[in-house]
Amino acid sequence: MGKILITGGAGYIGTHTCVELLNSGYEVAVIDNLSNSDRKSLERVKQITSKEVSFYEGDILDSDILGRIFEENKIDAVIHFAALKAVGESVEKPLDYYKVNIAGTLELLNAMKKYNVKKMVFSSSATVYGVNNPAPYKEDMPLSATNPYGTTKVFIERILDDLYTSDNDWAIAKLRYFNPIGAHESGLIGENPNGIPNNLMPFITQVAVGKREYLGVFGDDYETRDGTGVRDYIHVVDLSLGHIKALESLENKKGSEAYNLGTGKGYSVFDIVKAFEKVNHVEIKYEIMPRRAGDIAESYADVKKAERELKWKADKDIEDMCRDSWNWQKNNPNGYK
Ligand code: NAD
Ligand code: WQD
Repeated sequence: MGKILITGGAGYIGTHTCVELLNSGYEVAVIDNLSNSDRKSLERVKQITSKEVSFYEGDILDSDILGRIFEENKIDAVIHFAALKAVGESVEKPLDYYKVNIAGTLELLNAMKKYNVKKMVFSSSATVYGVNNPAPYKEDMPLSATNPYGTTKVFIERILDDLYTSDNDWAIAKLRYFNPIGAHESGLIGENPNGIPNNLMPFITQVAVGKREYLGVFGDDYETRDGTGVRDYIHVVDLSLGHIKALESLENKKGSEAYNLGTGKGYSVFDIVKAFEKVNHVEIKYEIMPRRAGDIAESYADVKKAERELKWKADKDIEDMCRDSWNWQKNNPNGYK
């Protein structure tokens, strides 16, 4: 136990991880510039846990505030979520993505080095498996990317490996998330996208709540069971618990290790729509649209390494994910506003 610094801790996965850490007895400091989140999310974390986090509103590119955080708190390890994450936007604004994701990570690593904090859990993504590997994806497959967002994750993984090679005191877990959905069962925290959602589940919940008329299904002619894209959806609470297991593994394991965090099961777009309708008793209108550029037919994880080495396994099923996503959205039709 100790104090964990969470970058991007006011965001979707960050808030859920704050809750699980606080409930497990850790202390938490958060740095977030609120560029894609709302400070109310951390008030909700307090409401759920009855515990406070030390919140610093600021940017990971700002070495002064990073220094202040390490001076004012005895940080044992860092969970690094802060990043820009919209694939399409990264194609339009590559320099922003390289700056925040890569330069921001370098600033953070330099501060960690200066204050001798050498344990990091990093948010990587299944996107690093690129378009040429067959599912199920295994951690030792070659990495590649087809857009600047994905490239930042591939580069950062490489930077972390090089850092460990240069100094074997580092203990790093690179967690490759598959498709996180769902929300805390309280319905108090959840995914809160700005503008038109890019991802499937927030789009579905916005159709269900009446904000959008219908879901566009991006292609029904893939070589999958029903022609729609197949993904490995994972409940955000399971994902958060995976971070705690990863943190624990860093206590006695130095290195720079990658782990897939998924369920190992693939569900199609139609599977998700049907499951959502069934558990929530709502209708989701949809229309078939052309394929989305850059999409692949199927992506799902081989989860054996995380099971074996982190002693972690996803527990919640697709119905839990659909129920909890809807519970969050219907209680908060305008997110935290
Ligand atoms: P999110 O946008 O909800 O959270 C990211 C947080 O980082 C936000 O609160 C944002 O305000 C903050 N932030 C952004 N730039 C910052 C900066 N320069 N300084 C300080 N704070 C900054 O996203 P999320 O879904 O919670 O994702 C968290 C991490 O997981 C990201 O690194 C993302 O790339 C990765 N990831 C997400 C998914 C997904 O589908 N959600 C999948 C794979 C990987
Ligand atoms: C899932 C499926 C779509 C929206 C993205 C990023 C990836 C990672 C997770 C961060 C696909 C289909 C979607 C819609 C649809 N993020 N779809 N209509 O593309 O697997 O991954 O988010 O690391 O890097 O690329 O997730 O939720 O966008 O799509 O039919 O309105 O739903 O084609 O088959 P994806 P997604």
